[in-house]
Amino acid sequence: MFTSPADGYDRFMGRYTQTLAPELVDAVGIDRKARVLDVGCGPGGLTGVLARYVGAPSVAAIDPAPQFVSTCRERHPQADVREGIAEALPWPDDTFDAALSCLVVGFMTDADQGLREMARVTRSGGVVAACMWDLDEGGMTMLETFWAAARELDPGVVGERMRVGVSRGDIATRLRAIGLRDVVDGALTARVDYIDFDDFWQPFTFAVGPAGAHLAALSADEQEQVRELCRPLLPDGPFTLEARAWFGSGVVSPTLPDH
Ligand SMILES: C[S@@+](CC[C@H](N)C(=O)[O-])C[C@H]1O[C@@H](n2cnc3c(N)ncnc32)[C@H](O)[C@@H]1O
Repeated sequence: MFTSPADGYDRFMGRYTQTLAPELVDAVGIDRKARVLDVGCGPGGLTGVLARYVGAPSVAAIDPAPQFVSTCRERHPQADVREGIAEALPWPDDTFDAALSCLVVGFMTDADQGLREMARVTRSGGVVAACMWDLDEGGMTMLETFWAAARELDPGVVGERMRVGVSRGDIATRLRAIGLRDVVDGALTARVDYIDFDDFWQPFTFAVGPAGAHLAALSADEQEQVRELCRPLLPDGPFTLEARAWFGSGVVSPTLPDH
């Protein structure tokens, strides 16, 4: 699902991370002296925002996709960027002051285990935070537009509504369930400017993420039909699309295992 080159990701979703990641970091309130971890870093959008706050040597990042790991390393050579998964983080207990994850929990094989691992590597009193697009109430306009068109062609299409974290309050509920305290449940807003409809459509053809994978599995004729079903849902000229993400954060308690 995330096997595409980093530049395709940048054109499709990385352009949203540019405004979402600063919102996430602001919502968490990172101390300038903090040591921080970016879980599911992709090509490094959030990694770069964290590096601007605390300095790249104080940032670690991890992702299972090798092409993203090498791009993230090239973009942030002073950060500790590793290949691996959230569910089995390769750092000792209490390594970080904060562990953040941007648009990742919904892709983890076991999101609760991933969040537990983020808490394990974060010191007592530190923060664990995550966000995922609102794919349940339609707050992520770009993906909502695509899935509405895909469903018009085939009403049986499920889309991404079943993913972890995409419904209101789900991330916060999971953070409470793993034993974090002072859990905050909120929403973040990102936005992207598009030159025209082609600027919106072309990145779907790069097969990035579930929407790109869905499109790639259709015939050429069906792909064209989805494209034409999207077109009337968007303005003609340049336009800006807003995207809401659900956000949750919580403080690591000394009573958690490994603390
Ligand atoms: C939508 S991208 C988000 C990338 C980046 N955080 C951003 O905001 O641009 C989802 C990322 O999650 C990664 N991923 C998938 N499963 C994962 C897992 N179990 N643990 C950590 N990362 C995972 C993918 O490789 C991909 O880079």
